[in-house]
Amino acid sequence: MSTPQHHPSPRELDDLELLTTGAVHPLTAFNAPGSVLTIDLPGDLATADEVELVDPEGLPLARVAPATGDVTALTHAQYGPFRRLYLSAKQVREQHAGRTVVPVTDALTATQLEEVRGLGPSLLLVFAGHGTSDLSPVALIRATLAAADLLDDAVVVVVPLADHGDADADHQLGVRVAQAYAGSDPVHALAEPPPSLVEVRAERASKPPHPPTIQTIVDRDLPEPGEQGLVLFFTGLSGSGKSTLARALMDRVLEQGERTVTSLDGDVVRRHLSAGLGFSREDRETNITRIGWVAAEIARHGGVAICSPIAPFASTRATVRDMVEEAGGEFFLVHVATPLEECERRDRKGLYAKARRGEIPDFTGISSPYEEPDDAAVRVDTTGRTIEDALDDVLDALADTGHLSLGESSPTVVGEPSPSVVEVRAERASKPSPIRVLFVCTANICRSAWLEQAARAMDTHGIEFSSAGTHGFDAHPMDAVMSSTLDAADEGFRSRRLTRDIVEQADLILTAESSHRAFVLEEHPQALRKVFTLGQFARAAQAAPHLRGRDLLAAAGERRTAPVPDDDIDDPYRRGDAAAEAAAGKMSTMLSVIVEALAEED
Ligand code: ADX
Repeated sequence: MSTPQHHPSPRELDDLELLTTGAVHPLTAFNAPGSVLTIDLPGDLATADEVELVDPEGLPLARVAPATGDVTALTHAQYGPFRRLYLSAKQVREQHAGRTVVPVTDALTATQLEEVRGLGPSLLLVFAGHGTSDLSPVALIRATLAAADLLDDAVVVVVPLADHGDADADHQLGVRVAQAYAGSDPVHALAEPPPSLVEVRAERASKPPHPPTIQTIVDRDLPEPGEQGLVLFFTGLSGSGKSTLARALMDRVLEQGERTVTSLDGDVVRRHLSAGLGFSREDRETNITRIGWVAAEIARHGGVAICSPIAPFASTRATVRDMVEEAGGEFFLVHVATPLEECERRDRKGLYAKARRGEIPDFTGISSPYEEPDDAAVRVDTTGRTIEDALDDVLDALADTGHLSLGESSPTVVGEPSPSVVEVRAERASKPSPIRVLFVCTANICRSAWLEQAARAMDTHGIEFSSAGTHGFDAHPMDAVMSSTLDAADEGFRSRRLTRDIVEQADLILTAESSHRAFVLEEHPQALRKVFTLGQFARAAQAAPHLRGRDLLAAAGERRTAPVPDDDIDDPYRRGDAAAEAAAGKMSTMLSVIVEALAEED
């Protein structure tokens, strides 16, 4: 007979393992009224003679006969933390007879520990499974092992027992499992219901910790807000201001410097992680689930992810919330609720006009729905407000949760050196190294190539110069018109594309236009403190004449002024001698200021 394969969810596997360990007797049927355990089989499988349950990799686990409920174990689960503690009822009765069985569903309190101590030799039977405890199964087992260490004679055994959302049935099942494991030994239900973790924490705050080992473990699994992974998820229509707000928030987090942060912006994700996806409901769900998956992994390791896709569907947002929370992270939903009319009025990318003309199908707000969230932590309408003002709403809500307290916005002028400058100074004293300056423009054949060569020709003690382009090709010679404006052009110069390595190696990145700066930051947000437009850094140097070299770099990185659009060096490529001369003149002025300020004094 060919056996159809049904891939059970983890929860079903927990059930299955319980069954195959023989913990619950009698168990007669699946899907039968009154049965304690249920596996929901898709319609066509329910009528099959036998169904083989396999794990996600296809390894056969058990054979089930839906009609009779007969279960045949084909293997035992071999993987997973503390697998050695997962014993069957039979093994427990054989190996640990004579102990009082104590079901455990939460970290034991000091009082409960005393209670167990009074029972003599005990067996702490941990019900570890989906939803049975506020702690993750691993955390619950670790906490219980720590408790056992503090007892004179206790062993720990784990049962995979998932919560089924039905308090009576779950309780009944728990009782039967405990009895099956105890055999003829007594079962002791802890007198007080295990307090929730919130109570444990409150208790901890009011009393000196006791016993310390358990407290430490609870501490580790419930990180303080400042250490918990955090996903800041901005949802809203195209043009609502999500990306702008997300970027501003990211700047704040980076400025504060206490957390690492990853940006998962809608447009950027679609260029990389979700390249090739369209805007059907299915593709959007895939896109958002990918973002959620990455964000959850970031949260798992205590990082901060800032996501800003449209994410129009409530169910997909809920999936992301679940993924993040499952990974131990905090999910913070921001609804950027700028109305459609305003987004359409802005129409920065001209997409709404196209959508109205029917040139873009399935356009959110026009021909595809946006489901407003009712579970957002904060709702921000950016209409008629500055970014800073709108951002304050988000910051206030975040501060309320205690997850990210970013305080006052930083001043935007270069002033006195901040403490980090002192650190940089100390570092420099021990290992003097040249300041590495990287110039960036589009193709690295006109402006940045010129800057690199012109800078080298200046008196540049203690500075190294290089250049790269955001687009264009590797290994092209410099543009002839542009190179004619140099006193002595380097014939051997060849262009190169900007890479992550190149960005990382630079101490200071100076771009010809603010769009280049935006490009660098979009791809390499970690470079925030060292990327400036040429004009922006020249102004920073002028505003802080008392700072030089690395002190200036540190101070400018701490307190950045906004780039001035007029400072942009327009692209002279193929625009003739006059355009090349104009660009060279403007760059020369800015470069003199910068090189002088960066140069080490002899
Ligand atoms: S989502 O629906 O899957 O969350 P996402 O944020 O990644 O969308 O991408 C939205 C961006 O793609 C918009 O800002 C817009 O620039 C562009 N875009 C292109 N086609 C569409 C469309 N049909 N609907 C919405 N945005 C679109």
